[in-house]
Amino acid sequence: MKWIYPLLAITIAVPAAFGAEPQAPAFGGEQARDAYVTQLLDKMTLDEKIGQLRLISVGPDNPKPAIREMIRHGQVGAIFNTVTRQDIRAMQDQVMQLSRLKIPLFFAYDVVHGQRTIFPIPLGLAASWDIDAVKTVGRISAYEAADDGLNMTWAPMVDVSHEPRWGRMSEGFGEDTLLSAMMGRAMVESMQGKSPADRYSLMTSVKHFALYGAVEGGREYNSVDMSPQRMFGEYMPPYKAALDAGSGGVMVALNSINGVPATANAWLLKDILRDQWKFKGITISDHGAIKELIKHGVAADPRDAVRIALKSGIDMSMSDQYYSQYLPELVKSGAVTMDEINDATRHVLNVKYAMGLFRDPYSHLGPAGSDPADTNAENRLHRRQAREVADKTMVLLKNRLDVLPLKKQETIALVGPLADSQRDIMGSWSAAGVAGQSVTLLQGMRNALQGQGTLLYAKGANITDNPLVQKFLNSYQPSVTVDRQSPQQLRDQAVAIARKADVIVAAVGESQGMAHEASSRSDIRIPEAQRRLLDALKATGKPLVIVLMNGRPLDISQQAEQADAILETWFSGTEGGNAIADILFGDKNPSGKLPVTFPRSVGQLPLYYNHLPTGRPYDYLHPDKYTSHYYDAINGPLYPFGYGLSYTRFTLSPVTLSASHFSQGGELQASVTVTNTGKRQGATVVQMYLNDPVASISRPVEELKGFRRIDLNAGESQKVTFRVNEDDLKFLDPQMKYVAEPGVFNLMIGLDSVRTQKTQFTYQ
Ligand code: BGC
Repeated sequence: MKWIYPLLAITIAVPAAFGAEPQAPAFGGEQARDAYVTQLLDKMTLDEKIGQLRLISVGPDNPKPAIREMIRHGQVGAIFNTVTRQDIRAMQDQVMQLSRLKIPLFFAYDVVHGQRTIFPIPLGLAASWDIDAVKTVGRISAYEAADDGLNMTWAPMVDVSHEPRWGRMSEGFGEDTLLSAMMGRAMVESMQGKSPADRYSLMTSVKHFALYGAVEGGREYNSVDMSPQRMFGEYMPPYKAALDAGSGGVMVALNSINGVPATANAWLLKDILRDQWKFKGITISDHGAIKELIKHGVAADPRDAVRIALKSGIDMSMSDQYYSQYLPELVKSGAVTMDEINDATRHVLNVKYAMGLFRDPYSHLGPAGSDPADTNAENRLHRRQAREVADKTMVLLKNRLDVLPLKKQETIALVGPLADSQRDIMGSWSAAGVAGQSVTLLQGMRNALQGQGTLLYAKGANITDNPLVQKFLNSYQPSVTVDRQSPQQLRDQAVAIARKADVIVAAVGESQGMAHEASSRSDIRIPEAQRRLLDALKATGKPLVIVLMNGRPLDISQQAEQADAILETWFSGTEGGNAIADILFGDKNPSGKLPVTFPRSVGQLPLYYNHLPTGRPYDYLHPDKYTSHYYDAINGPLYPFGYGLSYTRFTLSPVTLSASHFSQGGELQASVTVTNTGKRQGATVVQMYLNDPVASISRPVEELKGFRRIDLNAGESQKVTFRVNEDDLKFLDPQMKYVAEPGVFNLMIGLDSVRTQKTQFTYQ
């Protein structure tokens, strides 16, 4: 089935708030490129063309000698998961020495939040609301990856998600469209730089196209069913923003969309991506996705799956043999046309051209002999930047009686299975990062204290005592170590040091493998072993500071009552321990804001700030049975989107408008004055939301339309002005037309999505 919404002329404009005009695409000199690629295509045999569509990695299925033979016969187009210059050079040498047409390979990897220096996970980066910080991450990640010889990354991941049960929420930028789009675009711009051909740039491949973040129930690889308004209004703009920024690649999602797997979705990959969005780069299937079309129930057998995928617009096939196995015969029989093969091959050659590989296949490798002697050398890391960025991602959720910052002279009991785990603090998809080079919280606190005070440490609990979960986490690769002492013994040791301390710091949450691909959870609480540790610590009566490490919003309702302070640190990367210590001791002031809603329980899910109104809203002041609520739970979140505390206090003036109305082509400005009324310097994020209370379709109760991160000294004030124009008011109406409808609008400005200053204006 090709046309899902045949009658809908779907246009998707990235709202003005997403920033300036799209950057020039990464494919400069299109005429020269097309001429070059055409003459190359003319020389290629069918098998060589099919070879270009093949993307594989070295491993038991494809050992190095087998790949050498494939290279000799032009049977492979790109390699992923090879990450050192020596190994990459060896394969590129084989292309140059053994193959007929010497078409360079490109090399790709999941450089999602760093290559060797690991930065906070993307969900943490989103919590910084700091575009410049994200650009620093992109630039350094690209630099380190290109310095390792890589040409492409499978990033950014911009799947908007309302599903904390889904483990991959950690890899994206949260629940909001605008924030995800701006972060994704910043990643593409900073990674690709002026051109992906430059020595230290990397071509990006935005993923997972499309809607992977909306898998039903948050269950990995599940299907997605979504209204076109939500799809194009909320989930598609981040992909579009990344493509407008020039991303050369698109990785196609594993899920189906309204019954049609993305990998078999010609409407998505041709009509939308190519025809409407004018995408000229490559589409890549996700790992093994082509053969999965059989299990999806849309292909009868492997041959059928290949036919459907190729015809639907999948250029490169990741990690399976199917394209090379079945395409020759499919072409011979006429089921796949030569034009279709040429199109896909052209896209691959186009990106190789854009990567500069035809000019210099070694452009990211330099001359032989220049390879670093030690790929993991300490001087290849960018620790300072990693720490500075991580500092900005920490979200202070609670701070009763200012228990934080800690005093360096005190006796501190540091406990928890995540306090000294070098692997976990890096988070999932930690690329070529080396766990031994990451700074744990224990080390970070020691570094900060430099011998002052007393720091006691006990592990206190395993990540989990559930043998099934332990087994799951250690399947495929060892991920969690299980202490053989009994849970009681571990807890006793923690309680013993807690009794001696002035304050307890408990580093708890998830291991990195719990927030990863294939890591969906039906229970998003801190695992029971750790909850019992917290109960025992609480019973000591000592002040309790919880340092959370996790890759999704957790249900921490119980801990929110127990703890005196809670600091959300996500997985904060190579310099995580130092950065957390910066915040705990007050050397840095927390400034992160939640990019996702924290629910009170898993039963509330999905719970997100920009939901639609209902006909029977629940009013907690006048509760009524026949209104929209759970009779056994509160409707609202534990911590709302945009929320985060500081060690200083900020106040907001009422909103002033430059005009009470504007009309087509016009705009108005909305301003607030923010004052730091506390005693120390600090940064915060001023957020502007809009709501259209009467429209032809129910509109979200509020939607983020702009934000500004500002830094103020104690006593300092700053006026922050947001512009609002027609684009900010537009939405997809029932006929899928992108319209701004006249009427009254609510405008809210706040330091989170709930406590806002409100006003109204009219659009005529
Ligand atoms: C993931 C992708 C990833 C790819 C290559 C897949 O399993 O879904 O996000 O880029 O593997 O590592």
